[in-house]
Amino acid sequence: MDNSWRLGPAIGLSAGQSQLLVSLLLLLTRVQPGTDVAAPEHISYVPQLSNDTLAGRLTLSTFTLEQPLGQFSSHNISDLDTIWLVVALSNATQSFTAPRTNQDIPAPANFSQRGYYLTLRANRALYQARGQLHVLRVGNDTHCQPTKIGCNHPLPGPGPYRVKFLVMNDEGPVAETKWSSDTRLQQAQALRAVPGPQSPGTVVIIAILSILLAVLLTVLLAVLIYTCFNSCRSTSLSGPEEAGSVRRYTTHLAFSTPAEGAS
Ligand SMILES: *[C@@H]1O[C@H](CO)[C@@H](O)[C@H](O)[C@H]1NC(C)=O
Ligand SMILES: *[C@@H]1O[C@H](CO)[C@@H](O)[C@H](O)[C@H]1NC(C)=O
Ligand SMILES: *[C@@H]1O[C@H](CO)[C@@H](O)[C@H](O)[C@H]1NC(C)=O
Ligand SMILES: *[C@@H]1O[C@H](CO)[C@@H](O)[C@H](O)[C@H]1NC(C)=O
Ligand SMILES: *[C@@H]1O[C@H](CO)[C@@H](O)[C@H](O)[C@H]1NC(C)=O
Repeated sequence: MDNSWRLGPAIGLSAGQSQLLVSLLLLLTRVQPGTDVAAPEHISYVPQLSNDTLAGRLTLSTFTLEQPLGQFSSHNISDLDTIWLVVALSNATQSFTAPRTNQDIPAPANFSQRGYYLTLRANRALYQARGQLHVLRVGNDTHCQPTKIGCNHPLPGPGPYRVKFLVMNDEGPVAETKWSSDTRLQQAQALRAVPGPQSPGTVVIIAILSILLAVLLTVLLAVLIYTCFNSCRSTSLSGPEEAGSVRRYTTHLAFSTPAEGAS
């Protein structure tokens, strides 16, 4: 005997009424999982570009995000759930639908068709405290195949891009953050224009280097002159001394002997 059939008479319902109750319960339980899956929890966190200029916030094919520290502490999220970063073209965020299964996860190769893909696979423990991952650099892996799910492939163009974090488990999406604001990558033209206007830092470094070079050349010149002067003086010193003594000897002989002979 089924439990629900025993429940009916126990609370004073007829067989017909308890049948109705059971079908109502069945209807409710069938609807419940559907609404659960359709509405992942909303985390009111907006992903931010990193402030760390040393890490290279923006390049031609990468950008760097702040870590979403402590944003996934909800009871609905388990330590085993996967936290993905969704990378989307700004105009493709409306068409984004969170994948239901792991097979549905778009890889970088799907980007041109879909306008988004998932990468930087992580879990809650990695985002709990600073120091586990230093920077979140989108597009920094040149070695993985773009068809591989989760590959952090260099970004294909200047964008603009938007990103958000998506928490998934085996049954589908669990939670998601808000979309970031637009991020545009550097463009090739901007890079080519860089050698023209130099930053104050570069100017200072060039000035210091040229002063050092001038000092070095001066010292080198001084050393050359000094050694040359030394060796020139030592060879010319022996010359006049010999010539002088010879001249004194010969003049004495030449002027004294004929004068004595004449007087
Ligand atoms: C998440 O969990 C809270 C209780 O911690 C619950 O009130 C809320 O409905 C849950 N959200 C979702 C989307 O399941
Ligand atoms: C980044 O810089 C902004 C403005 O200077 C500041 O408000 C924000 O707190 C900084 N974020 C971090 C993580 O340092
Ligand atoms: C979305 O933006 C990209 C790049 O800016 C552009 O190439 C693409 O055509 C746009 N798609 C739509 C549907 O507007
Ligand atoms: C991604 O592309 C591959 C190959 O083109 C395709 O088999 C797969 O279904 C696509 N995945 C999604 C989520 O679009
Ligand atoms: C890319 O960045 C991620 C996260 O910062 C890091 O785990 C990974 O090792 C980096 N990959 C490469 C090839 O630098």
